[in-house]
Amino acid sequence: MPADRARLLLDCDPGHDDAVAIIVAAAFADVVGIVTVAGNAPLDRTTHNALVMRDLIGLDAPVHAGCERPLVAPPRHAGFVHGESGLDGAELPEPITPLDGTDGVEFIIDTCRSSEGVWLVPIGPLTNIGTAFRLAPDLPGRVAGVSLMGGGSFGNRSAVAEFNIWADPEAAAVVFDAYDPATPGSAAGPLIMAGLDVTHRFQVTPPRIAATRAVPGRLATTLADLFDFFTDTYLSRHDDGALDGAALHDPLAVLAVTHPELFGHVDRHVVVETRGEHTAGMTVIDERRLLERSDPNCRVLTTVDADAAFALVLDAVARCSTGG
Ligand code: BDR
Ligand code: CA
Repeated sequence: MPADRARLLLDCDPGHDDAVAIIVAAAFADVVGIVTVAGNAPLDRTTHNALVMRDLIGLDAPVHAGCERPLVAPPRHAGFVHGESGLDGAELPEPITPLDGTDGVEFIIDTCRSSEGVWLVPIGPLTNIGTAFRLAPDLPGRVAGVSLMGGGSFGNRSAVAEFNIWADPEAAAVVFDAYDPATPGSAAGPLIMAGLDVTHRFQVTPPRIAATRAVPGRLATTLADLFDFFTDTYLSRHDDGALDGAALHDPLAVLAVTHPELFGHVDRHVVVETRGEHTAGMTVIDERRLLERSDPNCRVLTTVDADAAFALVLDAVARCSTGG
């Protein structure tokens, strides 16, 4: 882990794996704020769930609600994975701390302008970040980088599109273009992509759920219950014999910042398809070995030390357990 704790702004749509990302970020980074976005569930639910998670782990960070719907695409959610609440599967308390604001995009802009070097970690559709980059074109150059969960060389919402990119392709395109050397005035990055290629290597297997349940405290039990639900829905939708549990996507975008040594990567030129009849939401990764290929704009994560990463999840759960 780097000597100085990274400062992270989490942009999320909790979501089972988002909930784990919040815990991991709280344990290993300074969370300067959480902004919610419509994605796995409608905005009121993802915001509710973010507040619940903040209370459960006693996190001292503001929560702001962001965009209620994608830039162009119709709102589409993922109740079939996360349940209608976005966090089905565990008895969760009602939030006790109030929302800090409904101005999520302005909060992102103000936070990144008032303090340079914040990492943006989007783990839902990129609506808030894309809107912030459009309104404040200086932002990509002010942040330490963007580490996002999304995309990959295969899809989960279509043959080629992963949910977070598919849900708002136009917003995602703004973000990838902001770091593309082919874009006039582009920023240097890094833009890090934890896509399905790497997140499918990080699964919540039955032994990992048991190890979670064995951590003392209510947070661990709650999380294990959430993992049971998440893994059941995930496995029921796949016929992939290589999957032993749900892919725990979102925490990897956090760990890519706090523990980069866990990952293998390649630097590639990546663009987002926004218009294709069959390919909207695809991250088009240029894998050509031709000298004429475009310069990279993205660090594409390819491998993760899954056992070490899950040990960090357990450590984070233990650190964030408030004794309840
Ligand atoms: C992504 O979509 C959501 O269901 C998860 O929270 C994750 O961010 C995976 O495709
Ligand atoms: Ca998510």
